Amino acid sequence: MKISFDLVIFGGTGDLSRRKLLPALFAGVQAGHIAPNTRFFLTSRQARPLAADDDAAGWLAGVFRDNPPACDYSPACLARFAAMVRFVPLEPSGTGEDWAALAGTLDTDGERTLVHFLAVPPALFTDVCAGLGRHGLNGSRARLVLEKPLGHDLASARAINDDVARVFDEGQVFRIDHYLGKEAVQNLLALRFSNLLFEEVWNNHSIDHIQITIAEDHGVRGRGGFYEGTGALRDMVQNHLLQLLCLVAMEPPAQMDAAGIREEKLKVLKSLQPLDGTLIDTQVVRGQYGAGASGGEAVPAYAADLGLDGESPTETFVALKTHIENWRWAGVPFYLRTGKRLPARFAEIAIQFKCVPHAALPSWKCRVNPNRFIIRLQPEDHLALRMMIKDHASTDEGLREVELNLDVASRDDVPRLGPYLRLIMDAAKGDQRLFVHRAEVEHAWAWIDRIIAHWQSGGNALKPYAAGTWGPYEAHDLLKRDGRDWFADI
Ligand code: BG6
Repeated sequence: MKISFDLVIFGGTGDLSRRKLLPALFAGVQAGHIAPNTRFFLTSRQARPLAADDDAAGWLAGVFRDNPPACDYSPACLARFAAMVRFVPLEPSGTGEDWAALAGTLDTDGERTLVHFLAVPPALFTDVCAGLGRHGLNGSRARLVLEKPLGHDLASARAINDDVARVFDEGQVFRIDHYLGKEAVQNLLALRFSNLLFEEVWNNHSIDHIQITIAEDHGVRGRGGFYEGTGALRDMVQNHLLQLLCLVAMEPPAQMDAAGIREEKLKVLKSLQPLDGTLIDTQVVRGQYGAGASGGEAVPAYAADLGLDGESPTETFVALKTHIENWRWAGVPFYLRTGKRLPARFAEIAIQFKCVPHAALPSWKCRVNPNRFIIRLQPEDHLALRMMIKDHASTDEGLREVELNLDVASRDDVPRLGPYLRLIMDAAKGDQRLFVHRAEVEHAWAWIDRIIAHWQSGGNALKPYAAGTWGPYEAHDLLKRDGRDWFADI
């Protein structure tokens, strides 16, 4: 079904808009998901990003040259898309005519859904929301999409959520975690809750441990200013990794609606093992990349990458072990890991099952990796179950590991929507299932704040790793000590 709406992107000419949102919207229009009478308003602080609106196609051509949309692309398509785009000069903290002009252009009385996407730094969220409220752009047809980071700790996240709540009801607020829009992540929910086979063994009786890795081969890619004050724990663990953990660990919701899903995720966050200083020292590893190689080329150390004179205290790598303290998961370690300048762009959830309780043949003695369920998010989405079968080359009932590949069910003739397109369309439809409730954000921050407080008091010294390697030695030791290894060292 084609949808039609007005989308205002605050920070419309900025980094996120150029890299992710505009290419996604272009693909959405091309694939026929977004109706051609949809309008995209790109606000920008510059007096006027373009000399005139009819320069839009030229500006967009530059954007798409650097960030090609995942679809067919031709000058005719570009012209059609450009006709849907309008540039709006707007100073978010201003009270002047620019806000009034924006309000005048938008259809606030009609039937049209109005989506406001805040792709601006969180310091501006309050001003933008206040402006929207003042100009009546927060009515029942309006939706507010908030891009991370939602604060830098619990107090700042609460302050943002409170400011937003003064203008919008929670039912109008769509907090994006774009990992929830990834195809494999949604498939995880479908597989878990529509197949008895998985759910029956999804617990501490059958599962040995779970690993979640989000590895990136690039560095901070021109976002050094943001990253230096943020680090991997706030940038990736507080949101993406904890959200993935919630989806893996949550109970089956009674209803697969937004309230049902969010309630179950929140229970997981509330059950996370509370970390004190001693646990953080032994269960958390914090690293920063030094000089090394990426894609066969020499790359500088993090601080040099950013052009800093001295050293930086910011972590570019985190590995941690935690537990979920409830009946289902008691005793099952969850290992989480993320880093920049690792050997590959790679994200995977691996669910490692236990060994069989008794090896009826000596050659069936539990091998290191018996059954493992793999949900790979990138570089491609991939679902597989590792199983042991008889090795036909063996004359003594030897075993061989094979992969039961679940991708056979995917339809390659149907293009994937991509996370941002999927999530923007969900917001336009008013579907909050793949968005994060304020209570989730705040519980996640409360847990992360303990780690940060410990770091600030000198805990968890920063460990170096060479760019292009799988992180500091201590991250490997974290699993070695438990008699395990990271799987994803591909
Ligand atoms: C963002 C982080 O949320 O996610 C970035 O701020 C990170 O630092 C990015 O690179 C990773 O997203 P993806 O979809 O490219 O894996």
